[in-house]
Amino acid sequence: MMISEIEKKIKEVVAFKPKDQKSFEEFRINFLGKKGHINYFFSEFKKVDSSDKKAYGLAINELKKVTINKLENFKSKFSSNEKSNNKKEDLTRPLSVLELGSRHPISIIRDKIIDIFSKIGFNISEGPEIEDDWHNFTALNLPEHHPARDMQDTFFISKSPDLLLRTHTSSVQIRHMENNKPPIRTISPGRVYRNEDISARSHCFFHQIEGLYIDKKVSFSDLKQTLIYFTNELFGKSKIRLRPSYFPFTEPSAEVDIYWGLNSETDYRITKGTGWLEIMGCGMVDPNVLENCKIDSNDYSGFAFGMGIERIVMLLYQIEDIRILYENDSRFLSQFKKSI
Ligand code: DAH
Repeated sequence: MMISEIEKKIKEVVAFKPKDQKSFEEFRINFLGKKGHINYFFSEFKKVDSSDKKAYGLAINELKKVTINKLENFKSKFSSNEKSNNKKEDLTRPLSVLELGSRHPISIIRDKIIDIFSKIGFNISEGPEIEDDWHNFTALNLPEHHPARDMQDTFFISKSPDLLLRTHTSSVQIRHMENNKPPIRTISPGRVYRNEDISARSHCFFHQIEGLYIDKKVSFSDLKQTLIYFTNELFGKSKIRLRPSYFPFTEPSAEVDIYWGLNSETDYRITKGTGWLEIMGCGMVDPNVLENCKIDSNDYSGFAFGMGIERIVMLLYQIEDIRILYENDSRFLSQFKKSI
């Protein structure tokens, strides 16, 4: 009985000729709509005797097929009518708004730092991320077996040719001094690698900016003044202190702390209640390093410094977990749109 109902509908569909857009739409809804005939027949399927199920199923599928064919045939007719009659393109319509991308916070801060040093005559130099022992260690006064090599866990690539992933951008200092005569004023931004566990505070690759200034009679006070200028430009704070430290490539060496202040709970937390934050390492270039690059250390002296860009990004944007900087989550990145 049900099957004969379906067959009736099939005949109805085959005979149907829409007069206009409206009757065409009504037909579509009556047959293919949510509450239309076809869905109704499908929902009745479970009530059909199992011996009839096959014939019943075939009948519904036939009904569906002829309905869709009919719609297809007339759709082109109606839609082409519609287009030529009603839907003229409005050429004055404004374009839809284009979503702009955003720059990565590491790039934003790197470029700011570059701008600050460019203003006082520093140029930009770059070197390879795959380095050799000489540029990453030996020429920087870190001969083989020197215990200070342990300060930076290294990804070694091969012994011969001797290759590794650079552990710091100080390697670019060497390359730059080998290829340029003093006076030298250069900063070297780039990616560096260390064999460290990934956590909220450390990552196996990150970014640094190295600075190098070589000329006649460069003194520690030039270094300090340059750092005061830099911290003032970048952080709007110029109170710094230089804590004695050790780096093999500088003598004397220091770590630079900036006075961040203790104005909020966050300030207390990030400065561990002291108000001071470490931002970089620096020092007077060790004469051995100058000599390794064939610069006469009797005539020339200089200073160098190196800082981690991520650390500064995290301070400036109050980011607690370094890993977010490498996830490329657009919800995070889109927050930096205004800084472009
Ligand atoms: N290369 C050091 C590091 O990766 C940073 C550094 C310290 C660079 C002192 C320098 C310097 O040029 O003078 O930890």
